Amino acid sequence: MLIPIYKVLEKDEVRQFREHLDRATWQDGLKTAGTLASAVKRNLQLEDGTEPALSLGQHILRKLAANPAFVSAALPNRIYPPKFNRYQDGGTYGAHVDSALMQVPGTHVTVRSDLSATLFLAEPEEYDGGELEIEGPFGIQTAKLEAGDMVLYPSSSLHRVTPVTRGARVASFFWIQSLVQDEAPRTLLFDLDQAIQSLTPRVPADDPALLKLTGVYHNLLRHWAIT
Ligand code: NI
Repeated sequence: MLIPIYKVLEKDEVRQFREHLDRATWQDGLKTAGTLASAVKRNLQLEDGTEPALSLGQHILRKLAANPAFVSAALPNRIYPPKFNRYQDGGTYGAHVDSALMQVPGTHVTVRSDLSATLFLAEPEEYDGGELEIEGPFGIQTAKLEAGDMVLYPSSSLHRVTPVTRGARVASFFWIQSLVQDEAPRTLLFDLDQAIQSLTPRVPADDPALLKLTGVYHNLLRHWAIT
């Protein structure tokens, strides 16, 4: 399932990000591509662990930790430090599945990619093409969101970025190891939490049915979560 998380960054934060990113030094994305990916990957990336990637990435992680929709949808355990990419001049990334295990550079920490995230940092009007296409059980779903919005999708899915034929598509991307590895129970928990959140303002706080549903949510999470 493809889950949009809106307004991860406010527009003035996006503007500040772009001031840094538009004057940053970008390197060929092939430097970090595996053998298979190098055949289909045509983009630019910021070097990991250097400025401005480091501080912008930390800013994103702080915002995500305080974002209830993200926490509910992803149930994050570990998050790979956000990376940044830029597609222009026909840049594209053909169909691929993300690697399962990612070692965080400079550490012994491994992140299992359960969810992939793309945080859009260019407005859709700034570029043509650059759609993120994700293959799922109901066919291909497409994401091209406003700057500051993010999409979450299963890392196990086949996905691609269509060629950017005008302007530049700037984004941050990263992976999340979830407390609930499998997508099906994680999606059930998200649906249940959304329903409880929507009921909460409409019934008294001590409503027995609401208390029971909240208990079911936590007991299912206790059952499925692996820390
Ligand atoms: Ni990918």
